[in-house]
Amino acid sequence: MKLKELQSYLQQVEGFDDPKVHLEQYVTSGHIASHMLYTMSQTFDDIANNIVADFGCGCGVLSIGSAMLDAGQVFSFDVDSDALEICQSNVDDFDVTSTVELISCDLMQSSTMLDYLTERRYIDTVVMNPPFGTKNNKGIDMYFLQKAISIANNAVYSLHKTSTRSHVIKKAEEMNCTVEVLAELRYDLPKTYKFHKKQSLDVQVDFIRCQPNR
Ligand SMILES: C[S@@+](CC[C@H](N)C(=O)[O-])C[C@H]1O[C@@H](n2cnc3c(N)ncnc32)[C@H](O)[C@@H]1O
Repeated sequence: MKLKELQSYLQQVEGFDDPKVHLEQYVTSGHIASHMLYTMSQTFDDIANNIVADFGCGCGVLSIGSAMLDAGQVFSFDVDSDALEICQSNVDDFDVTSTVELISCDLMQSSTMLDYLTERRYIDTVVMNPPFGTKNNKGIDMYFLQKAISIANNAVYSLHKTSTRSHVIKKAEEMNCTVEVLAELRYDLPKTYKFHKKQSLDVQVDFIRCQPNR
């Protein structure tokens, strides 16, 4: 599939009906999602026939894109049942039901399913746009990252605020990973919540790849 084609599909994925501020529910745009997934696939061969986990899947744009790029299986985790309902409807609409399995799970807690997948070293690749922990839940992005690194056989792909780059790299290296900043993105946050004063806000975000050295 061509990048443009993937992008135009992912732009049609339905977003949150009523986004929850405490869960930092922002969608990854079709533009950013398609470029992330295309790089993972074309440059690193980390999607086709791989078992992919999407941490904090929300409405499923990264899961659906992974399935479209021929992931062997996608496990999509989110704590919010409303988001998972929209995700399921998107998965059905895009006809990728056989590849994408949704899991209701608080990634900040221990989970039987996650423990099971970790013990069996089942997951090859993790992709995520984690909550940044800006409103509350300080450090949640690092918690997601550490969990992802502990579960992935091949690589973790994630978005983090550029302002936290040195901290993110230090933590990932402490977990014996090779870290690469693949791109610096301007993440255009549309006015989603009442406390947003501007119509949109550009946040500088790093797209990183962590490769565990096992
Ligand atoms: C920035 S959104 C990204 C959504 C989606 N992955 C995307 O790229 O459009 C972060 C997601 O993390 C989920 N989330 C927040 N806290 C969580 C937790 N403790 N466990 C699992 N998911 C969580 C939210 O519900 C939300 O869907």
